[in-house]
Amino acid sequence: MATLQAIKYEAGKLDILDQLQLPESCTYISIENVQDAWLAIREMKVRGAPAIAIVGCLSLAVELRKLQDGQSKEVLHNFVKEKLEYLVTSRPTAVNMQLAAEACVKLSSELLKDDSVEAAVAKDALLKHLEAMLASDIADNLAIGDYGAKDIVEKTGKKDKLRIMTHCNTGSLATAGYGTALGVIRSLHKTHSLDQVYCTETRPYNQGSRLTAFELVYEKMPATLICDNMAAAAMRQFQIDAIIVGADRVAANGDTANKIGTYQLAVLAKSHNILFYVAAPFSSIDFEIPSGQSIPIEERPHSEMTHTGSIRTAAAGINCWNPGFDVTPAELITGGIVTEKGVFKADQLVRNQ
Ligand code: MRU
Repeated sequence: MATLQAIKYEAGKLDILDQLQLPESCTYISIENVQDAWLAIREMKVRGAPAIAIVGCLSLAVELRKLQDGQSKEVLHNFVKEKLEYLVTSRPTAVNMQLAAEACVKLSSELLKDDSVEAAVAKDALLKHLEAMLASDIADNLAIGDYGAKDIVEKTGKKDKLRIMTHCNTGSLATAGYGTALGVIRSLHKTHSLDQVYCTETRPYNQGSRLTAFELVYEKMPATLICDNMAAAAMRQFQIDAIIVGADRVAANGDTANKIGTYQLAVLAKSHNILFYVAAPFSSIDFEIPSGQSIPIEERPHSEMTHTGSIRTAAAGINCWNPGFDVTPAELITGGIVTEKGVFKADQLVRNQ
């Protein structure tokens, strides 16, 4: 079985799986430039914090490869900086694009200042940096999967028959491959430790029912879909062992912004004495933000709530509130924050930066 790939890239050619078409069809669209990537991210044809950053950066690589040879380093630097600043404005909550942009601009400034570096060499170094993101994200996710699976087995004391709940989509579709929280679930499945995954529908955009359910069926993992308002009943009925979710931005104190509905699951997990985990690469941690209070929360169009496709499902004229994300306080993340460097309690993050 071919692995599900949200992002395909080879030497200047970038294609993404249009996630708006899932689960009906697997349609790839071509991203020719930064503007295409910005729109695809804004319209959520590609989504998920790591995937947003990777597509953004690879779209810049596509443009860099097309850039005429012979440009000065100053021109190159301004080009890269301007395009990255634009990409960061596509969606506000996930920090990965911003951190990736900062790292790339830093590299570009260093190359600019170094008189021993020719413009052509600087361009190659920037391309190498941007194009390395796909492989390094997969490597990080594999490590997250291993660390998370081991920790869940250890903390629950159960080697098999684990019942895990997850929210939103954190799998191959949200990353370069394998996934973060869904990667941990994948690792539990690989080691025959998994009994059942309970995935929430994740209203209103339905990342759970459209995307996670698609990945779970595709990979033949034992899974059950629940609506968001069934979470408490499911926790009690199925004796869930652990809940694991992804992150769009983790503040320095461990408070975590993730898909709307994550906070309510963490509150419910506490009531039911269930371990609650966040799985995210270090590129989702914003050490500049002391707590979750300063995380910008994206507000999405009301039509996501009032319509299913083109059919109106809510009374015309009703006022709506549609935040895309919420913030889970660090103290509710009882299992820990699973990263590519290991599993940390919130107060250990800064030390391990
Ligand atoms: O609005 P989305 O679909 O981009 O939100 C995605 C999430 O909230 C994910 O949980 C998060 O980005 C982590 S993806 C590995």
